[in-house]
Amino acid sequence: MTELKICTDSNVLADAAASHFVERAASAIAARGVFSVALAGGSSPAGMYQCLADVYGDQVDWSRVMIFWGDERCVEPDHADSNYRMARETLLDHVSLRSENIHRMRGELPPGEAAVEYQRILVDKLPSGRFDLILLGLGDDGHTASLFPDTAALTEDEHLAVANYVPKLDAWRLTLTYPAINAARNVTFLVMGEGKAEAARLILRDADKDKPLPAAGVQPYDGDLLWFLDTAAARLLE
Ligand code: 6PG
Repeated sequence: MTELKICTDSNVLADAAASHFVERAASAIAARGVFSVALAGGSSPAGMYQCLADVYGDQVDWSRVMIFWGDERCVEPDHADSNYRMARETLLDHVSLRSENIHRMRGELPPGEAAVEYQRILVDKLPSGRFDLILLGLGDDGHTASLFPDTAALTEDEHLAVANYVPKLDAWRLTLTYPAINAARNVTFLVMGEGKAEAARLILRDADKDKPLPAAGVQPYDGDLLWFLDTAAARLLE
């Protein structure tokens, strides 16, 4: 089931998404004693992470939370482009997570090596193969995580994490694959701004069956799909 939640602005969206995180965490911890979540990168989630730490921080049993990432740039963890650094500055440094429960993708390694290592981490730390929650952003070209149009990772049907060369960026990325994403219990997109409106329309309203955008491939096998959009990103959806 795909559910859309349209929020009046980015602050309302950040609060609603943070509240959703709290609910999913409580439900997972009650059911299985642990909450395994893959964080989104880019800039969209920053407000939600900040809100989660500042407003809802005492409503999550962080000792039961395992943190993963949906993707990472191939840079050092303290690089300005690092998704780990963004999450650390906005969330991880402000809540009491166990360090052994923070599983970052090591972007500083050679990409292939980092991907093999992350695959091993996922097999070891996520025995069910199912994240409780995966947060995703959306690029204006319809990419999500680091599943970019016309890249090899789109056709990966075995590994849960791979290295993916992105010609338009002339850069390697590390990313979860569709098998990992679509096995999740809940996948939640965070989409804000006018620049995402056309991609959102092409994914949610007028999907091109012959050449769907990468984010359209996020169709959880047996989980829920939730899109948080602000009114600017949702402008073409009515
Ligand atoms: C990344 C992200 C990527 C991101 C989109 C949207 O590492 O860049 O994981 O998929 O979510 O590019 O980025 P913004 O949130 O910055 O618009």
